[in-house]
Amino acid sequence: MNLIETCALVTGGASGIGEATVRTIVSKGGKAAILDMDTKRGEKLCSELGSGVIFCKTDVTSETDVKSAISNALDSFGKLNVVLNFAGIAAAVKTLGRDGPHDLDLFKKIVDVNLNGTFNVSRLAAEKISKNEPNESGLTGVIINTASVAGYDGQKGQAAYGASKAGVIGLTLPMARDLASYGIRVNTIAPGLIITPMLASLPEEAQEALSNQPLLPKRLGSPSEIAHLACFMIENEYLNGEVIRLDAGIRLP
Ligand SMILES: NC(=O)c1ccc[n+]([C@@H]2O[C@H](COP(=O)([O-])OP(=O)(O)OC[C@H]3O[C@@H](n4cnc5c(N)ncnc54)[C@H](O)[C@@H]3O)[C@@H](O)[C@H]2O)c1
Repeated sequence: MNLIETCALVTGGASGIGEATVRTIVSKGGKAAILDMDTKRGEKLCSELGSGVIFCKTDVTSETDVKSAISNALDSFGKLNVVLNFAGIAAAVKTLGRDGPHDLDLFKKIVDVNLNGTFNVSRLAAEKISKNEPNESGLTGVIINTASVAGYDGQKGQAAYGASKAGVIGLTLPMARDLASYGIRVNTIAPGLIITPMLASLPEEAQEALSNQPLLPKRLGSPSEIAHLACFMIENEYLNGEVIRLDAGIRLP
């Protein structure tokens, strides 16, 4: 699919990797609906980027919010053919620490946003995308999820985050199989260490330790490098059911 034909839902599109992807899609003539909780950043981005972008205040875990955002996107763009699931949250808390066991509600919240939220948006959007006229290869659209290298080798304090991202890796192939008969491809990006507000929220010593970890190049990644892969996943129709690490060869110890 060409980016110029893209009408995308971009969850987490108000910040970091999602924002970079919205900017890239719009710069190539596509359209994007930002589904995010951060109204201030979302509206600011919309007014900067113009009529190709709308902001829908959305909690990805809410069926009502997501249905309403999808209907806003369809009203504004006339169609929907791409979903980019970037919304996510992280925390660094050990299973058992000085203050006692990991808070169970925090564990549930991280899994809820990162995994259940991804599934919620995908399942509701798939229903609409499946109604598109298939192209000559039988394709109606594409869903792109975001996992993390922590879904493979999570660090201390990443039990919840690592579990949620391993869940996203695990849903990729079965979801691609479920949706193949509707013409929808499903792929997942597993980023390494990318400079965004999420990474900046980690303690300074953790950030410093992390920036030495990539194999080559020895630096943190930029959101635009992930946006580049997201756009490749939209454009290359032979890519399906795949998880791609984009991480400069990092293997977290
Ligand atoms: N930055 C990294 O190093 C890194 C590495 C691996 C994976 N990732 C993943 O990439 C994705 C994007 O991360 P980022 O670094 O750009 O983070 P970010 O914090 O800059 O952006 C995340 C966005 O998600 C939004 N969000 C949070 N909860 C939400 C909810 N319930 N509903 C809707 N929106 C919600 C936030 O408001 C924010 O705008 C996340 O899924 C993250 O786990 C990031």
